[in-house]
Amino acid sequence: MHFSQALVAFFAAAACASPVKSRDDDACKNNFGPFGIMALRSASPIHFAQGSAARNSLFLNLPEQNATCTDGPAPSGAIFTLIDGNLYLYAEPEPYQQIFVDRSGMGQGIVGYTTGDQPLPRNAEREGWELDANNNLSFKGTGLLACPNSIDGAWRIWLSVGIGKPAGQEGCLGFSPRAIELTEPQSCEYTYMQ
Ligand SMILES: *[C@@H]1O[C@H](CO)[C@@H](O)[C@H](O)[C@H]1NC(C)=O
Ligand SMILES: *[C@@H]1O[C@H](CO)[C@@H](O)[C@H](O)[C@H]1NC(C)=O
Repeated sequence: MHFSQALVAFFAAAACASPVKSRDDDACKNNFGPFGIMALRSASPIHFAQGSAARNSLFLNLPEQNATCTDGPAPSGAIFTLIDGNLYLYAEPEPYQQIFVDRSGMGQGIVGYTTGDQPLPRNAEREGWELDANNNLSFKGTGLLACPNSIDGAWRIWLSVGIGKPAGQEGCLGFSPRAIELTEPQSCEYTYMQ
């Protein structure tokens, strides 16, 4: 790596999640939770919408997740936990459903999750999630968007990789995913396909 490239990489990383521990790291977190996600996008149908997980994907405004939870009523939104920059669906004693993204030209920013030892799709990445000082979630500095008309009228969540219409979908909107810490999280298994 050339010195200039190293410098660019350093400053890119310094905004958040610097590998070198410093006082500034207090502003950024790659460990947090358990938490729910609330979408912020003023004057839109997804403002204050809850993040949900079902069928290997993440959604906003999904009426029912149909998750299987260990006790008590199933939560209406998904519960996440962030461990060393890896984002999981929360479960006790250990999470085993993990979020991935695919930023490649093929993936177009697809966001999904694997269950257990399900293989990762080619080009998929898992590590690089972080929360800023306002608990705004991003992946390697990239935010999220949601596209309407998905299952049960929900909006499907994608990573905003600079394609306005991932997979040709119309009407997508960027939003800020705000992590809301939960004190009594439910351990759940979210639905998935093999
Ligand atoms: C949840 O179950 C209901 C009733 O079977 C079904 O209509 C709905 O599509 C399911 N939702 C998901 C996200 O699978
Ligand atoms: C959240 O983070 C994304 C990605 O860095 C950014 O585009 C968005 O403006 C941020 N939102 C807020 C409210 O800070």
